[in-house]
Amino acid sequence: MDRIAIIGGARLEGEIPISGAKNSAIKLMAASLLTEDALRLTNMPRLADTRFLGKLLERLGTEVVESEGADGPETLLRTREIVSAIAPYDLVRQMRASFNVLGPLLARTGQAKVSLPGGCTIGARPVDLHLQALEALGVQIDLHEGYVYAQAPRGLQGGPIDFPIASVGATEHAMLAAVLAQGDTVITNAAREPEMIDLADCLNKMGAKVSGAGTATIHIEGVSRLHGATHAVMPDRIETGTYALAAAMAGGEVRLTRTRSDFIQALLDKLSEAGVEVTPHNDGLTVKRNGARLRAVEVDTAAYPGFATDLQAQFMALMTLADGESVIRETIFENRFMHAPELSRLGADITVSGGEARVRGVDALEGAQVMATDLRASVSLVIAGLAARGETMVNRVYHLDRGFERLEEKLSACGAQIRRISGGGDEE
Ligand code: EPZ
Repeated sequence: MDRIAIIGGARLEGEIPISGAKNSAIKLMAASLLTEDALRLTNMPRLADTRFLGKLLERLGTEVVESEGADGPETLLRTREIVSAIAPYDLVRQMRASFNVLGPLLARTGQAKVSLPGGCTIGARPVDLHLQALEALGVQIDLHEGYVYAQAPRGLQGGPIDFPIASVGATEHAMLAAVLAQGDTVITNAAREPEMIDLADCLNKMGAKVSGAGTATIHIEGVSRLHGATHAVMPDRIETGTYALAAAMAGGEVRLTRTRSDFIQALLDKLSEAGVEVTPHNDGLTVKRNGARLRAVEVDTAAYPGFATDLQAQFMALMTLADGESVIRETIFENRFMHAPELSRLGADITVSGGEARVRGVDALEGAQVMATDLRASVSLVIAGLAARGETMVNRVYHLDRGFERLEEKLSACGAQIRRISGGGDEE
């Protein structure tokens, strides 16, 4: 299993181009099931998760062709015919977002069998809201032996979908199904993350009639067929925020390009409060910090446009070296502080109680062997390692490979001393 070794202390100077958004790309890939024509996705991130979804789609009947286009990596997806409407446990279990093929399969074939994804390390993460949305569209659902057996014998029927809580995955799933339903669908209490807009834009290019994405109410006028399209995946706002935090942690000046600063405004406000200089520009932003100590600030995670839960671990890493005590509250997932004990192995002073972590800044961190059990937690350890004295060895790098494209390359281009060690056992 690969590991990443970091020698802390180097300032970061340079430019980091941001890749296409993982969490948008995988839903856009699922949208390709909705048409027999080709969907061409540009600005595609090349990640373990996108490769993984590609494999599942191939099983369902999609041709997936990756290439290098004029403006970076592209993927062409074409599902002339659904050859199987079954998404098995071994595939869905490995990546929850695979569950989002259920709606498109139903829209295209009227029936599907998709494994329930199960919980994961950050929380129980049920799919009741996804199923509620599909039922509102006239789908009959039976649960047996860990599988969802779903049927829409008369086709999907548009209708009102009122979510009790805003869910990113369920909102996307509802859109993916309702675009081909008969009649109109109105989704209320929809998630407002920028990925909703990206998905709606792509669906509209394919001939769908979606309006209001990015607000709490989304209107969808069902159409009878969708066609092919070309769509550029939006920039990854979590990758953007992560490198902004890396620059703040290591010190120096880093220009993040091919991205948008407004997607991470809540983080940028907190960075400014902590004493980091942030300058937005047309193509992204520049993050600068000189020698001065950071100030501790409080953070509550929230749905967009609030502070993203996917940046909470990385922000905690930054706060380990701030002056004073930072209180970090996780409000989206019930078990998303697994990075805290690992950061403590590097010398951080953190107390976790329920959904709240208290981080008392220390003078310095010291490198150690660490590992994490999810993607964002793993990258928080890399960020901590950039500022720790000596060597930090991050084990179980496969979590990082799920969501960060060429992480070592991007950071070392800015002067970080970071390298991947291939193979070998990790420290359990
Ligand atoms: C998406 O997960 C992202 N994943 C997550 O990123 C991100 O943390 C999360 O949104 C919140 O922003 C992808 O897009 C692939 P939710 P999702 O449904 O869709 C509860 C990463 O590291 N809920 O908005 O699963 C749920 O348990 C990942 O890239 C239900 O109760 O998030 C949670 O407490 C991790 N029933 C809350 O809603 C449901 O049916 C919000 O989850 C669905 C969700």
